[in-house]
Amino acid sequence: MTPLLAIRGMVKRYRNPGFTGLVGRRSEAAVDGVDLEVQPGESVGLIGESGSGKTTLVRAALGLLDFEQGEVELLGHPLRGLSKGQLRGLRGRCQLMLQSPDASLNPGLSVLEHLLESARLHRPQADAGEVVADFAERVGISHRLAGLPYELSGGEKRRVGIARLLIADPHLTVADEPTAGLDAALKAEITDLLLATRSPERGHLFISHDIPLIAYACQRVAVMYAGRVVEELPVSAIGAVQHHPYTSALLQAAGFAVDCPPALAAAPAGRGLPGCCYLGPCPLALPCCSQQAPELRALADADGPGQHRVACHHVAPGVSP
Ligand SMILES: Nc1ncnc2c1ncn2[C@@H]1O[C@H](COP(=O)(O)OP(=O)(O)OP(=O)(O)O)[C@@H](O)[C@H]1O
Ligand SMILES: [Mg+2]
Repeated sequence: MTPLLAIRGMVKRYRNPGFTGLVGRRSEAAVDGVDLEVQPGESVGLIGESGSGKTTLVRAALGLLDFEQGEVELLGHPLRGLSKGQLRGLRGRCQLMLQSPDASLNPGLSVLEHLLESARLHRPQADAGEVVADFAERVGISHRLAGLPYELSGGEKRRVGIARLLIADPHLTVADEPTAGLDAALKAEITDLLLATRSPERGHLFISHDIPLIAYACQRVAVMYAGRVVEELPVSAIGAVQHHPYTSALLQAAGFAVDCPPALAAAPAGRGLPGCCYLGPCPLALPCCSQQAPELRALADADGPGQHRVACHHVAPGVSP
């Protein structure tokens, strides 16, 4: 089966402005050798601390940012080989819901104008007015069609974004913190609206700090720390297997009962150093952890071979699969 999204070995560095503001130096990698796939029919969650590189990863994967190393295939097409026109065509089928709902709204256009624009672009054969009426109703924004973005609440802006996404009917939906800042009831409603597009051909990648929401919406989850994926596992295995110590700390903070000593209050080793990126806070660190960065290695748990992978010398020692 061709993955909807396949990221292999991606490295992305931002350029730091130099003293003069003219000569930039590449900083440590924001994304540091990440592999990630979304298969048709699958919803994948991406979690990890603020600044771990989640937004950078998905923006680069959808061709919105250059990256230095690695390969991306979108709906089976290698990103690097695509012309601008081909990329534009593919983007219609791979939609990104941005982390900030304001960033994707034009301040001078009303809700109606935003939705009409999407209807004309993605459903040219249909009556744009009917499409807008239908989708505005589905997402509960019909009463605000005349509103401008600055007049809308955070939840209403998200509803506009979701209506546009549903009109586009993409194969791959990437939602970057789609429920951030919303109350619990609205979170559930917005998530269900996004999941309404689930089908065997379509896939979702959800970025969120809300682990219960990821557990509700996804089958598989990848955990990022300091630009790397440190663990990847089926959602059903959360709390039931031995986790990367960073995942354990995240799960403990979210109220899950996991078996791992708490993280230390030390600073992380940082990006770009030879050892493990989680060395400083790690309660399980071994001498080798300061020398060699651990690779993602498969663990043999109940969910089957290759389903649970951890980058940790303590939890998953041994040879890479
Ligand atoms: N345009 C930019 N220029 C320079 N550095 C950047 C830029 N955007 C992000 N970064 C840096 O790259 C790293 C990863 O940022 P990113 O926004 O991808 O993290 P994130 O995991 O999405 O965080 P959050 O959960 O807060 O949204 C951070 O150290 C950030 O400061
Ligand atoms: Mg982000």
